[in-house]
Amino acid sequence: MSPQFEELKEKIENKKVRLCIIGLGQVGLPTALSFANSGFSVTGVDINEELVSKINNGIPPFEEENLQEFIKNNQTNKRFHASVKIEESIQDSDVIIVCVATPITEDVRPDMKNLKAVCDSLGDYNLNEKLILIESSLPPGTFEGLILPSIQKADQICWSCYVPERLVPGHAFSEIKDAPRLIGELDSESGVLAQELYKTIVNAEIVLTTFKVAEISKLVENTYRDVNIALANEIGIICEKYGIDFDELSRVCNSHPRVNLHQAGPGVGGPCLPKDPHLLLNPFNSEKIDSDIILNARKINDTMPNHVIDLIKRSFQEKNKELKDSAIAILGTAYKANVSDTRFSPAKEIIGKLLDLGCKIKVNDPNTESAFGGAYSKNVLDTIENSDLMIMLTDHDEYSELDLKALKEIMNEEPILVDTKRIFDKHEADDAGFLYVSVGYHNLKEN
Ligand SMILES: NC(=O)c1ccc[n+]([C@@H]2O[C@H](COP(=O)([O-])OP(=O)(O)OC[C@H]3O[C@@H](n4cnc5c(N)ncnc54)[C@H](O)[C@@H]3O)[C@@H](O)[C@H]2O)c1
Repeated sequence: MSPQFEELKEKIENKKVRLCIIGLGQVGLPTALSFANSGFSVTGVDINEELVSKINNGIPPFEEENLQEFIKNNQTNKRFHASVKIEESIQDSDVIIVCVATPITEDVRPDMKNLKAVCDSLGDYNLNEKLILIESSLPPGTFEGLILPSIQKADQICWSCYVPERLVPGHAFSEIKDAPRLIGELDSESGVLAQELYKTIVNAEIVLTTFKVAEISKLVENTYRDVNIALANEIGIICEKYGIDFDELSRVCNSHPRVNLHQAGPGVGGPCLPKDPHLLLNPFNSEKIDSDIILNARKINDTMPNHVIDLIKRSFQEKNKELKDSAIAILGTAYKANVSDTRFSPAKEIIGKLLDLGCKIKVNDPNTESAFGGAYSKNVLDTIENSDLMIMLTDHDEYSELDLKALKEIMNEEPILVDTKRIFDKHEADDAGFLYVSVGYHNLKEN
C-alpha cells in the first residue's frame, strides 16, 4: 500500500477529507447532506444556478423527508454549501462524487452529455491523490470507456470506484443509511477507500464487487422490477377477462413462499425504471443488445395508460354518459406515492389523451403543481367537486383519508371511481354509490 493511500485513508477515517458532490438532484443532494450530517465538509456543485441559489437560501428544491431540516442544519454549522463553480470545487476537494443525471433520448438511447461534460472538467484538473466516485447509473462499459480515460493521468495517482445509488425518492436519507450499499472497485486500494467513506453513512452491509458487475447489477435490479410490474399488469388484464379481482388473486398467489406478484397499475414512471432497462441494452460505444422479455415488459408498462383510457371509456358507456365535455378529476401526477417527481409519470399520457377526447380536466397533487395541461387545484375537494369521474393515479397518503360517501355528495350524478392504485375498498366504494373500476378489477361489459 502506498503512503499516499495510507494518508487519504486516515483522513477519511478522521472525517478530515473535503467532499465535492457533482449534481445536486434527487440523488446528489441527499448524498451530500448525508455526508455533511456525518461530520464531513461538503461542497455540492450543480450547473443549475437557480437550484444552487434555492439550496443556499435554505429552500428544498424537491419533496424529500427531512430535506429542509438537513439543509438548514448543515448551512448553520457550515458543513455544506452549494456552488456553481466546478473547477474550484474539484481542486479544493479530496473526494469527488458524481451524481449527474444520465437520461435517455427520445429514441431511447443513453444521453451521455451531462456525464461527458463532467468528465471533460475532471480531465482538465489535477486529480492527484483524490478519490473519484461515480454514483450515476451508467450504460455498461462507461466506467472503463469514459470515466477512466478522463481521470487516469500518467503523472498522477488517483483512486476510483463505481458506487451505484439504489435510493427511493421520498425516503432518500433512510435508504442511504439502511440499504445495503454496492461498491464496484477499480482496484483493492480504491475499494478500501470507498468502503471507509461509505461506512460513515451506511449502517447496512457494504457489498464489494468489480466495477463491471456493479454497473450491470444496478441496471438489472431495476429491470427485474420493471419486468415484474409488466407481468403484474398483464395478469391484471387477464383477471379482467376472467372477471376476478387481481388483488384477491395476488393475495392468494403470494401466500406461496416463492411467489412475489407485484402490483398492477396505470404504468411505470420515475427517473429509473423506464430508463434503466434501455441503459442495460445500450452498452457504451457498442452495438445495441436485443432482449424480447425486457423490451416487451417496457412495451406493456408503456401501454398501460391506454388501458386506463379504455377503462374510462367503458365506464362512461356503462353509465350512458358522454365522455366529451365530461368533468374528470385527476388525483396524483407524481409517479409514485408521497414524492413530487413527475418524470415519466403515466399521468402525463392519461391527461393528454383525456384532453384530446374533449374532457375537462381538474388536477390535484399535494406535492407538485404539474398538471400536464389540466387545471391545477391545491384543494382536493375543489378538484373533485362537480366531476363525473375521479381517477386515482398516485397513492399519496392524504388520499386514503378521503371519505367516499362525502365525495359522492359533491360529485355529479352516477359518479365513477377509477382507482388504479387500489387506495379504496371496492365494497366501500360500491356502498357509497360509485361505479368502482381498477386495473385488474371491474364488472364492465366488453366493448
Ligand atoms: N432519482 C432516483 O431515484 C435515482 C435512484 C438511483 C439512481 N439514480 C441515478 O442517479 C443519477 C442522478 O439522478 P437524479 O434523479 O439525482 O437526477 P436529477 O435530474 O434529479 O439531478 C441531476 C442534477 O445534475 C445536474 N447536472 C447535470 N449536468 C451537470 C454538470 N455537467 N455539472 C454539474 N451538475 C450537472 C442537474 O442540473 C441536476 O440538478 C442518474 O444517473 C439516475 O439514474 C437516480
